[in-house]
Amino acid sequence: MALNIQQIRKDFPVLSQKVNGKPLVYLDNAATTQKPVQVMERITRYYSEENSNVHRGVHHLSQVATEKFEEARKYVAGFIHANKPEEIVFTRGTTESVNFVATVFQQFIGEGDEIVITAMEHHSNLVPWQQLCHRKKAKLKVVPVNEKGELELGAFEKLITSKTKMVAVAHVSNVMGTINPVEKITALAHKKGVPVLVDGAQAIAHLPVDVRKMDCDFYAFSAHKAYGPMGIGVLYGKEEWLNKLPPYQFGGEMVDHVSFEKTTFNVLPYKFEAGTPNVCGALAMETALRYIEEKDIENIRQHEDEVLEYATGKLKKLPGMRVIGEAGKKTAVLSFVADGIHPYDLGTLLDQMGIAVRTGHHCAQPLVERFGLSGTVRASFGIYNTFKEADVFIGATKQALDMLR
Ligand code: ALA
Repeated sequence: MALNIQQIRKDFPVLSQKVNGKPLVYLDNAATTQKPVQVMERITRYYSEENSNVHRGVHHLSQVATEKFEEARKYVAGFIHANKPEEIVFTRGTTESVNFVATVFQQFIGEGDEIVITAMEHHSNLVPWQQLCHRKKAKLKVVPVNEKGELELGAFEKLITSKTKMVAVAHVSNVMGTINPVEKITALAHKKGVPVLVDGAQAIAHLPVDVRKMDCDFYAFSAHKAYGPMGIGVLYGKEEWLNKLPPYQFGGEMVDHVSFEKTTFNVLPYKFEAGTPNVCGALAMETALRYIEEKDIENIRQHEDEVLEYATGKLKKLPGMRVIGEAGKKTAVLSFVADGIHPYDLGTLLDQMGIAVRTGHHCAQPLVERFGLSGTVRASFGIYNTFKEADVFIGATKQALDMLR
């Protein structure tokens, strides 16, 4: 079913403003998405009617907040097809989720062990593993990426050895939009008994996510890249893994009994949620995911694919363009460089014409350098972007190139 994009745009008031005298064309959705009024209203309602700390009070508001918070957990579990809500840990976002696993996982890592990541990881799914390897004298191995921006699966298979303790891979590349074959990757890793963490930051708003089908052991994402608020995200973990892992942080809520001599810890998922959680964030994330569900992720995907294909086709017709990332399966991201032009200069001129894109290495420096570059211009699409906006973006890029050349 085709989405009514004009109707959808009315849910996002931020889009109707002018920037530098021009209607805003927001093409930086991979960095963060805009928020619909439904999410803003949910935040207001929470603080107007329901605000209280959770799991602590006998009073009415505390019970309301606790109930809604746990309902949000249940909804998120259903949204990604987890087996049970206990497998959903609320975090600050993808970065905290990955740091969490990379930190508590150190007890399973010894000198000479190996962790396999890919050449297209965001720094947040690279640096935590790299630092863990440094601490433990383990080895970080990297699956190469081909010219089209796809993983070399043959190499991946060979990189997994009896010493491999973890595979960490992006579901979707934030620089190129490549959709990685995560089901195949988990199957290959599991054949050798290795767990897999999938960074879903760039997938959650663009693709159906089914952690059971994927059979990943961990899945991380942030609400703010899926029309929800900043500062809240999820770590999904298979129950058997979460039970095996020690707490990440210590404090209130995550304990069972405390004496000066020793502490016993709470059950899942509370063992991993020390301190007052972002209750409002969890509720607003639920609203954002319900928004996606209502529009239907398959419709969103189809719309974004069409706009991406349209914009890519037109961009490639401009002189001296090089698209970075032409994987057979990709979504929502168009990265490129223009011959002889610094991405920053192009991005600055586009901004003057009201167009928001990101320039630079996009927190994936090794990947960008693999293509012999220091940065790209990246246009990334969301549910509300239109073909007309794609035209404006292409026209403005052409104009900027003429000025810069
Ligand atoms: N990870 C975000 C991006 O790719 C910030 O822009």
